[in-house]
Amino acid sequence: MMMMMWGMRVVVVARAGMMASGLLGCAQRVCTRVTVRGLRTQRTLQRSVGSDSFNASAVPGVLSVASANVARRAHPILAVSSAAVWRSKWTLASSLVQPVACQEPRQAPLRSVLPSRKKASGKDGRTLDWKLLWELLRPDIFLLAAAVVAALTVAYVNIQVPILLGSLVNAITSSGGDVSSMQNSAVSIVGAYVTQTLFTAMYITLLGVVGEKFAERVRLRLFESIMRQDIAFFDQRQSGEIVNRLTTDVQEFKSSFKQVVSVGLRNITQAVGSLVSMYMVSPTLTGYLIVVVPTVIAVGTALGSSLRRMSRESHEAADKTTSYATEVIGNMRTVRGFGMESREVAEFNHWTSECRRLASKLAFGIGVFTGGSHLFLNGVVLGVIYYGGVLMSRDEMTAGDLMRFLVSSQTIQRALSNTSVLFGQVVRGMGAGSRVFEYIKHNSYIPLTGGLKPHQLEGGIEFADVTFAYPTRPEQQVLKRFHLQIPAGKMVALCGPSGAGKSTVASLIERFYDPSEGTVLLDGLPLSDYDPTYIRQQAIGYINQEPVLFATTVFENIRYGRPDATPDEVYEAARQANAHQFISSFPEGYDTVLGERGVTVSGGQKQRIAIARAILKNPRILILDEATSALDAESEKLVQAALDRLTAGRTVLVIAHRLSTIQAADQIAVVLGGRVVEQGTHKQLIRAKGVYADLVRHQISGEGGYVV
Ligand SMILES: Nc1ncnc2c1ncn2[C@@H]1O[C@H](COP(=O)(O)OP(=O)(O)O)[C@@H](O)[C@H]1O
Ligand SMILES: [Mg+2]
Repeated sequence: MMMMMWGMRVVVVARAGMMASGLLGCAQRVCTRVTVRGLRTQRTLQRSVGSDSFNASAVPGVLSVASANVARRAHPILAVSSAAVWRSKWTLASSLVQPVACQEPRQAPLRSVLPSRKKASGKDGRTLDWKLLWELLRPDIFLLAAAVVAALTVAYVNIQVPILLGSLVNAITSSGGDVSSMQNSAVSIVGAYVTQTLFTAMYITLLGVVGEKFAERVRLRLFESIMRQDIAFFDQRQSGEIVNRLTTDVQEFKSSFKQVVSVGLRNITQAVGSLVSMYMVSPTLTGYLIVVVPTVIAVGTALGSSLRRMSRESHEAADKTTSYATEVIGNMRTVRGFGMESREVAEFNHWTSECRRLASKLAFGIGVFTGGSHLFLNGVVLGVIYYGGVLMSRDEMTAGDLMRFLVSSQTIQRALSNTSVLFGQVVRGMGAGSRVFEYIKHNSYIPLTGGLKPHQLEGGIEFADVTFAYPTRPEQQVLKRFHLQIPAGKMVALCGPSGAGKSTVASLIERFYDPSEGTVLLDGLPLSDYDPTYIRQQAIGYINQEPVLFATTVFENIRYGRPDATPDEVYEAARQANAHQFISSFPEGYDTVLGERGVTVSGGQKQRIAIARAILKNPRILILDEATSALDAESEKLVQAALDRLTAGRTVLVIAHRLSTIQAADQIAVVLGGRVVEQGTHKQLIRAKGVYADLVRHQISGEGGYVV
């Protein structure tokens, strides 16, 4: 043994200049010589080592097996350590290069398009509500604790493995080879591997289950919270942003949470444990590693971030080239029309050469980085073996100790590089979590339930001195001291120019918003005294210019008006809405699926389905907001007939642009700049020769004839 170590030192020193080609190579060459392998084996080895330096990141598995096989024949220490070296090289290289390729470029544009995401992660994005997190985790706390215990067990076994391997090597190298202690060590190692396998499977499964249950609970809480938010909440945000929180953010939050337990907890425990174990073997050698490794990791991290920047630039250039080509090819007629082909080719050439330049720079960076990390890792192993050899020569260390030390150091290296990748993930996960929690905790001003639910409603509405500004634009008063009376069972019409505030009146009746000042009264009581869901579900029907239908069957769309309606009631409502006929003409009748990837229906048909829905609801109060203004004359007639049937006997507020549709109203109010400027019957208003009379005259001349 002594001879071997000495021989090793001599040759290693002699070949110090070849460190760059891989310590593993040197060590293997050394061993091959020491154990007097033939020249052919040595050449094979050198060839494999030579190619290692260039292709290591591409085929680490193959190489580690190949080199380990050869080395195993030479010496167990090197066999195990060489496999470990390649493993850790691979983890280190992939951990630092991987984010370059895929993470950054996807993140960057997303952030820039969504300013409010940025705001959220900027202000409170890094602070997480731990109380809420605990509340969401508590139901599964036992499962989670079991997962943590299993992960820690795996970490513990991982710390023990090098120690057991060390005793095995000692048993092998002890004089004459102590077979019974060799057997004992081997059995313990098998036991450790089995424990490792079982507990790994256990913690991964448990964490998966806990993670999914957690995500389910978060999604549900979030969706519930979104459902009860005020309409103003939706005015302020893009729906894509809200959906993102429900999907991407929850996903990211869940996976970071899982990673923290599986990767973080396990690796940190492993690193600390291995460090202690190494220290027990040799304080001096551990000291050497403690100085060298963090320094090089710091340098590596800095280099890694500059690589990421280079990768981002390269991706941006590629994106620009693509969008440039897309634009030119998409507008080929214009390009041809101006005879600009050669100029476009020159421009494209400019972009592609820019791409090439940046990508080559990146390739060089990755090359230097990968080569450098190999050099470093080889250097560390060489240093350990060399210095360990010195210690062995002084009888201060056994071969088993050296083995234990080497494997422990690889465990630490792996643990550190895994943890460094985790760090970024944790920051992103906390950002995602705080965005999710922000919505879960968001309060709404108008509750969904609570308040009066009278059996009988008269349906009289009054706007008393109402002033209102939209929460998104508080400085613009849309309604100013607005007065309006809609007596029970009567039809009142609102007319006036676009932007006057007519639809806002309808929104206030539905209590989508509350007035800033003044009150909206229903049967003499403030609207806020009533149960909002009762008001919307039963008391008020609302039909606007563009009814929204869901991507489900016609039948379900109509039944949305009253979910407990029987099929016969649905058909009857459709008949009254002049919709039964066209629905029956569809091959699948009422089972026809509408909307996305389903059948699309015309504006008039849509409107009649919406009317059927309102008929089913049978509300006391009906609001028609420009219900027919988007329709052609033919469908307008059909829809108007259906509307006439619907409005009979109810309190109705009609908002109309075309004055012909509101002449029959009991009262007509002209809205201008957020106020009612005139009110009366059609005849009274014509006689008064005011704004309404002007509007009517205008429309007659403009649209060629309405009977006045
Ligand atoms: N959700 C909203 N958020 C902010 N401002 C709005 C919103 N809806 C309408 N407005 C503004 O309020 C004013 C009145 O709008 P609206 O009541 O829809 O007018 P009308 O129905 O009479 O055409 C307009 O200036 C419009 O820009
Ligand atoms: Mg409107």
